[in-house]
Amino acid sequence: MSSPRGRFITLEGGEGSGKSTQAKRLAERLRSHGLDVVLTREPGGSPGAEAVRAALLGGAVKPYGSDVEALLFAAARADHVDRTIAPALARGQWVICDRFIDSTRVYQGAVGQVEAPLLNALEQVAIGPARPDLTLLLDISSEAGLARAAARAQGQVGDRFEREGMAFHQAVRTAFLELAGADPERCVVVDAGRQPDMVAIDIAKAVRARFPEALSETVPA
Ligand code: TMP
Repeated sequence: MSSPRGRFITLEGGEGSGKSTQAKRLAERLRSHGLDVVLTREPGGSPGAEAVRAALLGGAVKPYGSDVEALLFAAARADHVDRTIAPALARGQWVICDRFIDSTRVYQGAVGQVEAPLLNALEQVAIGPARPDLTLLLDISSEAGLARAAARAQGQVGDRFEREGMAFHQAVRTAFLELAGADPERCVVVDAGRQPDMVAIDIAKAVRARFPEALSETVPA
């Protein structure tokens, strides 16, 4: 008998929004209630995609323009979906992914101005049926997010995107909010400017609300 498809949750947001911390906390929480969870990230999440991550975030691809960056994000995603996400979902596992398609739609699409038909085609090829069931948008002001990211970097130069100016990061925030507003069935906006414990509580509530049949017995509010 084939196992039921697992659940696919993505976390999105600008720099310093706390996605990675919250993704880990959510994975621990679900595991502590007996669920089988795969925690992964983009760009990356498979050996091939991690290699592409280094080129993209180091800035080596930037001179070729947003279209080429979009191609490489899609190539990394295709490998990640094939090797990590789709097999896990097919096994019935829960997949939590730190960034996914919405980051491309925002960074390369809305802000990088790659045309929608190209992005849509790349997305379709890269992910096939592996669409997120729930996307948590961690929203924080660009100023606060960049301050957090700078504190975390401890004086080291940020990656290719962190090095962009304030207007870029404000455009990223606006685009994420627009995208989430246009797809309320899938996306939940969480105020990430608060203490991590408060953010984690809202995330747990959103997950329970979206998957009541799976979690009502196992994850308290
Ligand atoms: P992060 O791992 O610190 O979140 O950094 C990943 C960076 O890559 C972040 O600045 C957003 C960017 N990015 C894109 O531009 N497009 C994408 O599709 C993904 C997944 C990330």
